[in-house]
Amino acid sequence: MKLRYAIVGTGSRAEMFARALTAEHRDTCELVALADPNPVRLAVHNARLPAPVPTYAAADFTEMLAKERVDVAVVTTVDRVHDEYIVAALEAGCDVLTEKPMTVDAPRSKRILDAVRRTGRSVKVTFNYRYNPLHEAVKRVVASGEIGEVGSVHFEWLLDVRHGADYFRRWHRDKADSGGLLVHKSGHHFDLVNWWLDDLPAEVYASGRLFFYGGGGARHGYARDYERAHGAAAAADDPFAIALDGDPTLKALYLDAEAADGYQRDRNVFGPGITIEDDLAVLVRYGRGATMTYHLTAYAPWEGYRVMFNGSRGRLELEVVESDHVAPAAASTVKGFGTPAEQGYRSLRVHPFWAPPRDLAVTGYERKGHGGADGRMLADLLDPHAPADPLGRTADAEAGARALLVGLAANESIATGRPIATHTLDAGLAEDHGTANA
Ligand SMILES: NC(=O)c1ccc[n+]([C@@H]2O[C@H](COP(=O)([O-])OP(=O)(O)OC[C@H]3O[C@@H](n4cnc5c(N)ncnc54)[C@H](O)[C@@H]3O)[C@@H](O)[C@H]2O)c1
Repeated sequence: MKLRYAIVGTGSRAEMFARALTAEHRDTCELVALADPNPVRLAVHNARLPAPVPTYAAADFTEMLAKERVDVAVVTTVDRVHDEYIVAALEAGCDVLTEKPMTVDAPRSKRILDAVRRTGRSVKVTFNYRYNPLHEAVKRVVASGEIGEVGSVHFEWLLDVRHGADYFRRWHRDKADSGGLLVHKSGHHFDLVNWWLDDLPAEVYASGRLFFYGGGGARHGYARDYERAHGAAAAADDPFAIALDGDPTLKALYLDAEAADGYQRDRNVFGPGITIEDDLAVLVRYGRGATMTYHLTAYAPWEGYRVMFNGSRGRLELEVVESDHVAPAAASTVKGFGTPAEQGYRSLRVHPFWAPPRDLAVTGYERKGHGGADGRMLADLLDPHAPADPLGRTADAEAGARALLVGLAANESIATGRPIATHTLDAGLAEDHGTANA
């Protein structure tokens, strides 16, 4: 019998799940309902399905679960309300697939973990980055012991002025909605490190600021005088403005839906009201003693990342250039909507002691869907006959909470100027993760 799925939060990300449930995985899954506070976005998604399904106001989510006999709720709302739908679905006897971050603060995380324990139902967090073939290869090398015990990790992630800028136009610009980039974006990276090292962060120190976007725009000579791009003459040739009416999907999902909730997706990235940072430095000590230096830059000329593992038998280096520059024609477009990325490059290299470096060939990497990870993750999560998962890529609610620890502690460290022991966060985790040796 097919499992019955419903999606809450019908923005951009919902599309991937809706397609998987009604196309690639339709033999084992059935999409039975959609919910969102915005009726226009609901209608756009419903019109794209092979056959329309019942739609519900988000306020009627619990009623929808019962009426449509939902087995699994897929949560793709703004981050701030993930917990509301996760807990309501668990209480209604459903399982949950939720987008990352699982939630945006420690009390909400505890609420979710308490509900999982109380109800015995399952929450899976869709950490697609684990399913990137390059990241799977890193997991294999570290677990094999080839580079020995990992002493430290050096991790740098660059978001370019196309993709990075987009966080400063949308709801993500408010820390209350997204937790800031260390929760919303870097949570992927901190989850990877937890998984790669099979360890947990014990102590975190961070420093960060809004350097480039927001008020930085006037200082660096980029600021233009408009609130939102649509209809603003000053935005017409601004490389930091997007044209919502230049793409049919952006227009339908956001511009045409504004009348229903007032949400504007094209705010000025140099305007007021931004409460997240764009330049973040983090120092982490893990439970077994490894350290990590991490940096996130959201205003880079190219997009990609470098991760280096220093081990007792050698070093592992992963370098990924997803897009080596932002072409002028792509500057005003949104990643994932039409315009493709520029040239890319990937290298995964082991440097053993006293031997030449060895490049690892990785198959299965694709220049779409997050390195091909999205499709592989959906197969693992939606196919009841999926092969065994020896790498342990599936992330449960505890993993979702562990992925939050660095970002939440870093946010507190930025606010207080002090290092933060993660066990003081009270994110609801069962294990004692903060008292390990230095
Ligand atoms: N893993 C990934 O690679 C990846 C990529 C993109 C987005 N995401 C995640 O997907 C989620 C959605 O992101 P998006 O890009 O689709 O954003 P979006 O802005 O396009 O969509 C968010 C949707 O949430 C709805 N919403 C707002 N308030 C709500 C409420 N109170 N109750 C229910 N729904 C509400 C909005 O109406 C909108 O339809 C986020 O959690 C984001 O982190 C993950």
